[in-house]
Amino acid sequence: MEQVLQQIAELRNEIESLQISNAKALEEYRIKFLGTKGLVKALMGEMKNVANDQKKAFGQAMNEFKIFAESKYEEWKNGVGDTATASDIPDVTLPADAIAIGSRHPISLMRNRMVQIFQRLGFAVADGPEIDDDWHNFTALNLPENHPARDMQDTFYISTDPAWLLRTHTSNLQIRALQNSKPPIRIVTPGRVYRNETISARSHCFFHQIEGLYVDENVSFADLKQTLYFFVQEMFGKDVKVRFRPSYFPFTEPSAEMDISCLLCNGEGCSVCKKTGWLEILGCGMVHPKVLDNCGIDSNKYTGFAFGMGIERPALLKYGIKDIRLFSENDVRFLKQFTGAI
Ligand code: PHE
Repeated sequence: MEQVLQQIAELRNEIESLQISNAKALEEYRIKFLGTKGLVKALMGEMKNVANDQKKAFGQAMNEFKIFAESKYEEWKNGVGDTATASDIPDVTLPADAIAIGSRHPISLMRNRMVQIFQRLGFAVADGPEIDDDWHNFTALNLPENHPARDMQDTFYISTDPAWLLRTHTSNLQIRALQNSKPPIRIVTPGRVYRNETISARSHCFFHQIEGLYVDENVSFADLKQTLYFFVQEMFGKDVKVRFRPSYFPFTEPSAEMDISCLLCNGEGCSVCKKTGWLEILGCGMVHPKVLDNCGIDSNKYTGFAFGMGIERPALLKYGIKDIRLFSENDVRFLKQFTGAI
């Protein structure tokens, strides 16, 4: 008993003389004295060796010591934050690690430019699913099953019955907009589309489009042309010429494709425009009355125009990129070249 009391007195002195000023030392103290294998526990275990008539006195001494050791711990714990040494405090005046700044992807750059031009004309941006059902991608767009025009877009099917697919164009969002809102509807819908095409320098199995849709009373082909003229001027410059060629899309009538004079040779004829002097950039037309009817919009009252344009092609032209595959290879040597571009 005497021996143990002596030991307690010594440990008390030891604790008294300790200077604990950081979290590490405090933790060491906790483990040494208060931990499950610590000295307080060990001394408590001595109880069984103490004679019965001394157990009470021993218990009291032990308890006091325990409370003392614990209260010291609490005291230091509260103080550690204030008394941390200089080496524990980070030097906030040191230069920071350099932050690696990324760059916008050229497709995003081009998409943003396109969207901004249409936003100035009052078009809102709409978004929608890349995995869609047959009805939204084809049938509602006046492309019923077995329609030969479906072959124009080689499709990735996810399931066939019922048919779910990767959308082949952003026109599926025309349907969603027509179903979910009432005219006037004026939206652009940039997004990714998928077609089962051989990958080469000029085509890929996924690419990006931006769709435009304007439906209201008295919307005419003249409105379509003016909108696209404005777009071309803003996007490619005042000197660029525009021409419309009659075309066919099941969901527009009449339909057209729009070309701009070749940006590289100014219409003289070069390898990029295949000596024609023109570059095809979009398909467009007046929304087919059947499409409006399919979506519950009165085609006797409302008319509209729609257009769909690829984003890759203008981006290739603008940035002088020769191979469409670079857009999706994630090669930082390519992407880094767009640092700072807006
Ligand atoms: N969806 C058509 C395509 O991908 C483009 C288009 C959109 C044509 C809207 C007319 C109107 O080829």
